[in-house]
Amino acid sequence: MKQCSTSLRPLAASALAALLAGPAIAAEGNWRVGRIHYRMVCTACHVETTGESIAPSTRTKAEWTKYLAADQHAANGQANPSLRYYVSQEYRASIKDTNKAAAKFIDMPDEEMFANLAAFVIHGAQDSDTPAGCQ
Ligand code: HEC
Repeated sequence: MKQCSTSLRPLAASALAALLAGPAIAAEGNWRVGRIHYRMVCTACHVETTGESIAPSTRTKAEWTKYLAADQHAANGQANPSLRYYVSQEYRASIKDTNKAAAKFIDMPDEEMFANLAAFVIHGAQDSDTPAGCQ
C-alpha cells in the first residue's frame, strides 16, 4: 500500500490543474495546497479524535460538492459544526504553535484556503481519475 506523506512539498502554482478542475467550486483552488491542509489539519484531528481518517475517495464528486456547499461539518456535535471554521485563519491561528501546515499558511485568506480544500477533495473523489484513498 502507498505510504501517506505528510511532508510539505514545494508549492508550484498549478494554473493548468485549476483550469481543468471542472466543478465551479473547485475552479480557482490549488489542490496541492488543499491536500496539505486536509492531511495535516483535517486528518490529524480525525485520527486523534476518532482513530480514523476520512479519505476523499469515500465520497463522489457530487457528494463532496453538496457537503462543501452545506457547510455542516459533522452532525453529532463532537466537533465545530461549521466546516469553514476548520479552514479559517481563526482556526489556523489557534493551532499554529503545534501544527506546521497551519503556521505555514497562516496568511492565506479563508476563501482561498476553502477553494484549495474543495479542489483537493474533488480531485481525490471516488469517481475522479485520481482517487485519494490515503488520508
Ligand atoms: C478539531 C477536530 C476536527 C477538525 C480540525 C476537523 N474535523 Fe472533521 N470530524 C471531526 C470529528 C470528531 C468527526 C466525527 C464525529 C462526528 O460525526 O461528529 C468529524 C467528521 C467529519 C466528516 C464526516 C461527517 C459526516 O457527517 O459524515 C467529514 C467529511 C469531515 N469531518 C471533514 C473535515 C474536513 C474537510 C476538515 C478540515 C477542513 C475537518 N473535518 C476538520 C473532527 C474534526
